Amino acid sequence: MNRLVLLSALTVSLLSINPVQAAVIFAGKEKAMAVCSHCHGIIKPSVDAPFPSLAGRDLTYLKTALGQYRDKTRKNDIMNALAGSLTDNDISNISAYYSSLKTK
Ligand code: HEC
Repeated sequence: MNRLVLLSALTVSLLSINPVQAAVIFAGKEKAMAVCSHCHGIIKPSVDAPFPSLAGRDLTYLKTALGQYRDKTRKNDIMNALAGSLTDNDISNISAYYSSLKTK
């Protein structure tokens, strides 16, 4: 059921963007599903999880936060370790994916 809601949310959001953006978002989706969703979820973290929600957040905010975790100007052991292995492309793609999600 969750998967269905997710898929339809993604389909709706993809209808309003161009193919280049769509490719970027799909690349980000793969990484988000494989790594980030374990803590942050996709639409939202599980109710008892202490992690911030990323869906629908501002694109620039997400990119900036990930860049800061990567260069350790924003400190958090978990996120510093995770962002350390992200490329600029990963950061753009994942941020594009999460910011494209509609939370309502
Ligand atoms: C093991 C759990 C875990 C995983 C996996 C994880 N995160 Fe995080 N993330 C956290 C925690 C904990 C915080 C809060 C850190 C803080 O207070 O700065 C956080 C914070 C963030 C923030 C800042 C949110 C805000 O409101 O400022 C962003 C952006 C973020 N994570 C992106 C990601 C992305 C993208 C991935 C996948 C590459 C990812 N995270 C994977 C635990 C995780």
